[in-house]
Amino acid sequence: MALPMVHLLAAWDWAQDKPELRENPDYYLGAISPDAIHIRDGDDKSRKNAVHFNNWRSPDPDAVLAYWRKRFTPFDIGYGIHVLLDGQWAVDFRRTFPQMLLPSGKPDPKLYYNDTCATDFQLYAESPLTPRLMEFVRRGRAPEDHPMLTLHEFDAWREMTLNFYDRPCPMEGPARYLDMDYTRGFLKSCLPLMTTTYERMLHMNEIQRAILDRRSTRGFSDVPLTDAEIQTLVDAALAAPTARNCQDWHFTFVTNRALLDEFSAAYRPLMPAGAAEGNTYDVLFHAPLCVFITLPEAPGSRFAQVDAGIAVENLALSAMGMGMGSVILGRPKEVFDADPAWEARFGFPAGHHFAIAIVIGHNTATKEAHPIGEGKTHFVK
Ligand SMILES: Cc1cc2nc3c(=O)[nH]c(=O)nc-3n(C[C@H](O)[C@H](O)[C@H](O)COP(=O)(O)O)c2cc1C
Repeated sequence: MALPMVHLLAAWDWAQDKPELRENPDYYLGAISPDAIHIRDGDDKSRKNAVHFNNWRSPDPDAVLAYWRKRFTPFDIGYGIHVLLDGQWAVDFRRTFPQMLLPSGKPDPKLYYNDTCATDFQLYAESPLTPRLMEFVRRGRAPEDHPMLTLHEFDAWREMTLNFYDRPCPMEGPARYLDMDYTRGFLKSCLPLMTTTYERMLHMNEIQRAILDRRSTRGFSDVPLTDAEIQTLVDAALAAPTARNCQDWHFTFVTNRALLDEFSAAYRPLMPAGAAEGNTYDVLFHAPLCVFITLPEAPGSRFAQVDAGIAVENLALSAMGMGMGSVILGRPKEVFDADPAWEARFGFPAGHHFAIAIVIGHNTATKEAHPIGEGKTHFVK
């Protein structure tokens, strides 16, 4: 995609208000390094999207954020900045110069490589920053434990980049479309997405991590919760906001193993015949704690169900904060509907009925984040 001078100049411009990066050689080496895949694959582009974290045809800041959540050294920041640039470059030049595209939608390689090469050589020759940027690249240190590329590939790509401009531009030049004016304009326009993505990463505090990392992890060890852990969950539940502060809800914390197992057994006959879960399904996933949230028949607030939903998420996040997992459960409703005597057996306040439940405990299972459907948000500015 874009060639090294474009990447290095963008990295420089973007880091001007970031003293921790502005003079950091590792950051600049990172900013050219996703293309080290060429050392392994030569001209084969089949793996470029993977090493560019899905930023090959259009920007995917979420993928960069996922990478930064695992690795956030100056090298990795530069690496992420590189791929965010490429994702935008791919969209921008196609939109600006449709005449560069073949009927297949791919850029005409002759035009494209002529322009990118001619302009990069011109940037190299004319930018007063060139010696400084190349010195950063020379001094940068690449990681040995990168998930996509090896230290040898990073080092070999650095050498190729440093030697790349030692000869005249191999293309005929001059650039017809992707010229200095276009590139300078692009260098300005590509920075805001980098800033937003980076700042989202800086906002990745404990609370945000708990929200993003919560999963319905359906496997629990037998390890019981301590009294302090249970009381911490009580605090979280009761801290939940309610409409007009009505607090219609009530929370029943159940750790009685025999009772929970009996309840699960009562659910099994209620499952539809031939249900995929099978006849050993445990509706409570054998968790050491189940919290039932109940509401009175005539709650004070018309938003009582919403209030119960907010409280149950408070419990899920509080469990995350203590290193435990949870599953929010609607299915137990079927047991209470089939046999309301269970309300008394759990000691629900008189007239209270099941709203929602959550099981909590130490996880023995992991789970991927749920896929997010299309069109779930829009912005009115
Ligand atoms: C109101 C509600 C009821 C749910 N009921 C059940 C349930 O009865 N059994 C179950 O296994 N998961 C239940 N879930 C969990 C969802 O299946 C789960 O949240 C969803 O698949 C998204 O996955 P995630 O929680 O890992 O992000 C429920 C979730 C909510 C919010």
